[in-house]
Amino acid sequence: MSRFLIVYGTGEGQTARVAARIGEVLAERVHEVTVIDIEDAESAAAPEQFDAILVGSSIHVGAHHEAIREYVETNLSGVSTRPSAFFQLSLSSAVDDEARRAEAARYVDDLLEAADWNPDRIGLFGGALRYSKYGFLKRLLMKRIAKNATGDVDTSRDYEYTDWDEVEAFAADFAGFVERRLKNE
Ligand SMILES: Cc1cc2nc3c(=O)[nH]c(=O)nc-3n(C[C@H](O)[C@H](O)[C@H](O)COP(=O)(O)O)c2cc1C
Repeated sequence: MSRFLIVYGTGEGQTARVAARIGEVLAERVHEVTVIDIEDAESAAAPEQFDAILVGSSIHVGAHHEAIREYVETNLSGVSTRPSAFFQLSLSSAVDDEARRAEAARYVDDLLEAADWNPDRIGLFGGALRYSKYGFLKRLLMKRIAKNATGDVDTSRDYEYTDWDEVEAFAADFAGFVERRLKNE
């Protein structure tokens, strides 16, 4: 059994849902899992107290959550000296399009290069459009962003693009990696 930390940044909760699902997969493999919203308890999330760490963030207007960027930079030595993974949610990963895939990869590269972090696993997941949760201005902005990305501009309903099988496979793959790595230490 290993102790896993999952730290995430979310706007409307989709990254929180993904973090929770990853946590369930890890817990099913009898690991101890702590899932933390970066906005709630930054100081309680020191990587040193854990065997492995996953960091997750959605993309809002071309950037990760500021608090997540800061978390990785501040905790770089703790994060990079244990098995680690990064996962990202965006609309760019919601469509099967080469330019969009490149865009999603670029968001990750920018974060990792700035922090000088090389996680062992990276997960790129489609996010969600929660028109029902956006205020007037955000709904307008998201309609514009969605028009160029998924094309889903009917604001009378929500859209979810997250492939939960992919999320579970990512969690299982990282768990397997950590289990092998820590067994050999
Ligand atoms: C205000 C806003 C801006 C966004 N900007 C982008 C963007 O620039 N590129 C992109 O691929 N997705 C963008 N998205 C889509 C989000 O990444 C997607 O909705 C994701 O599911 C949000 O996850 P969260 O609920 O955990 O924040 C944006 C979403 C919102 C609400």
